[in-house]
Amino acid sequence: MNLDFNQIVPYIPFMLEGIWVTLQFVIISIIFGFILGTGLALLKFTRFKPLHWFVDIYTSIFRGTPLILQLMIIYFAIPQLTGYDIPPFLSAVLAFGLNSSAYVSEIIRAGIQAVDKGQTEAALAMGVPYRSMMKDIILPQALKNILPALMNEFITLTKESAIVSTISYLDLMRRAQVVGADIYRNFEPLIFVGFIYYILVMVLTLIGKLVERRMRVSD
Ligand code: ARG
Repeated sequence: MNLDFNQIVPYIPFMLEGIWVTLQFVIISIIFGFILGTGLALLKFTRFKPLHWFVDIYTSIFRGTPLILQLMIIYFAIPQLTGYDIPPFLSAVLAFGLNSSAYVSEIIRAGIQAVDKGQTEAALAMGVPYRSMMKDIILPQALKNILPALMNEFITLTKESAIVSTISYLDLMRRAQVVGADIYRNFEPLIFVGFIYYILVMVLTLIGKLVERRMRVSD
């Protein structure tokens, strides 16, 4: 068997730096996607039907095409039209944020609709204004339904982040490839970053579990 992990030792700092590079755009994409997704979900509760159609078309397109295609359109195709290059970091945040917002909006919409109708009826019967009913009664309950799915979404984004290696962004995945090309061995660097991805996902899973437990305590 041809294995020698000693050869990747000099490259370990280089690969570890990739953790922050990856996390940086994943965190920003998550925040961006969450804010946009919440906005889109709320549009579905307005009375203005064209807004519903807009959200439906938006989510259907972003969920119905591969994320890597969306990333490549932003990074390679849009500059052809506008004449302006979009840097890899910005392309990644845009693609991941826009894509994630489509998933998040559906998660939040379903979470709000899952709150028992009696809650709305009771609030309205007691004369609670619509805004404060949403903010103080419906959304806090919805959040509990939503949280596990939302955590899943963050985990998906973290793993999918590896596709930015295709737009020459020096993330964890790309660094493993660079090292592999340098030492003519791919197994060791790939297993090394695979291990890092796994730890990142485990940490996210743990955070999700802790938050969930806290919410149950507050019941
Ligand atoms: N691999 C899937 C795709 O290319 C994942 C999309 C991203 N998923 C997500 N929950 N944001 O379409």
